[in-house]
Amino acid sequence: MKLLVCGGAGFIGSTFARARVREHGDEVAVLDKLTYAGREENIQDLADAPGFSFVRGAIEDAAAVAGVLDASGAEAIVNFAAETHVDRSIAEPDAFVATHAFGTYVLLEAARERELRYVQVSTDEVYGSIEVGTFTEDSPLRPSSPYSATKAGADLLVQSYFHTYGVPAVICRGSNNYGPYQYPEKLIPLMVLNALHGDALPVYGDGMQVRNWIHSSDFAAAIGRVLVDGVAGEVYNAGGPDEQANIDVIRRIVELTGADSSQIEHVTDRPGHDRRYSLSSERVRALGWQPVVRFEEGIEQTVAWYRDNSWWWEPIRSGEYRAYYERQYGRSLR
Ligand code: NAD
Ligand code: TYD
Repeated sequence: MKLLVCGGAGFIGSTFARARVREHGDEVAVLDKLTYAGREENIQDLADAPGFSFVRGAIEDAAAVAGVLDASGAEAIVNFAAETHVDRSIAEPDAFVATHAFGTYVLLEAARERELRYVQVSTDEVYGSIEVGTFTEDSPLRPSSPYSATKAGADLLVQSYFHTYGVPAVICRGSNNYGPYQYPEKLIPLMVLNALHGDALPVYGDGMQVRNWIHSSDFAAAIGRVLVDGVAGEVYNAGGPDEQANIDVIRRIVELTGADSSQIEHVTDRPGHDRRYSLSSERVRALGWQPVVRFEEGIEQTVAWYRDNSWWWEPIRSGEYRAYYERQYGRSLR
């Protein structure tokens, strides 16, 4: 297939682009704004793949979107482009509204005009928090942060383009991802790098919040399955095989890195912090997908990847991220 992958220089988008090129022989065009989280290094290994191209541009820029669609002849749009960090959405929500609302609208208009298949990559956070049980695709949307609220808004717009204009759009909602190339603002890479550097490990509140972890290779595979076999107009949840309390994830990272447990520090909780996420994935499993990486194995591989790939994180940890960390945590990194 010929695909336009928006946000393909980010963590999951680059994992998806790599899998489509290497495992399926797809021709992939990446459109990415290269925000702080978008890194050309994430796709540098694909530069010479047949039919691969990269364009720096924003999804809210209709001319950029039209240009890359014309040049690539893409048959489908897969949209990963987003602002993705809850803490940043609490501090500065504006880019979340612009990218998720207006950017998604621009892509949907392009899909409508050209009669393209459209996949919206979304998140379990649109359902809000669940103390017991598991969200299905029919659960009500009760987002609690500016991040999840604007992602929910984008999902509703996608559904409206299916119902109103017949755009063959599908939505794939994933649970918390982890794996190589994840920007270190997120829990797992933040804790791994802080553990390796002797920095404090900042646990929000009591650390008993639960997340449903999915390896990025499994989420990428689910999105691929939905792209090819998903029924237009449907939502597909893709949850990981394991749920973990944050404090248990952090303790395991301390063990795997050989850090000292005295580095663990409880800090002020995130405002509006969702207690637990849990996602059932029966609908995408019925299409033949299942997650293959268990957390125990995936976390070991992920810690090893960060330990072995300082070339990737050194420029990040010495750049914008350092200033962000000081703003967010009120202290400097070593
Ligand atoms: P990321 O922050 O690593 O990557 C986002 C990418 O989008 C970056 O390359 C960035 O440059 C690009 N981007 C941002 N705004 C853009 C714009 N206006 N135009 C073009 N490109 C833009 O995020 P990620 O973790 O890879 O998440 C990808 C998608 O998956 C997002 O839609 C996110 O909501 C969803 N998701 C993430 C998780 C998770 O745990 N990380 C879980 C479920 C769903
Ligand atoms: P995060 O990686 O930001 O993902 P999300 O908010 O989308 O679930 O956070 C995962 C969990 O880890 C969440 O419960 C917040 C918690 N957390 C901390 O305790 N300390 C931190 O420094 C960070 C970044 C997150």
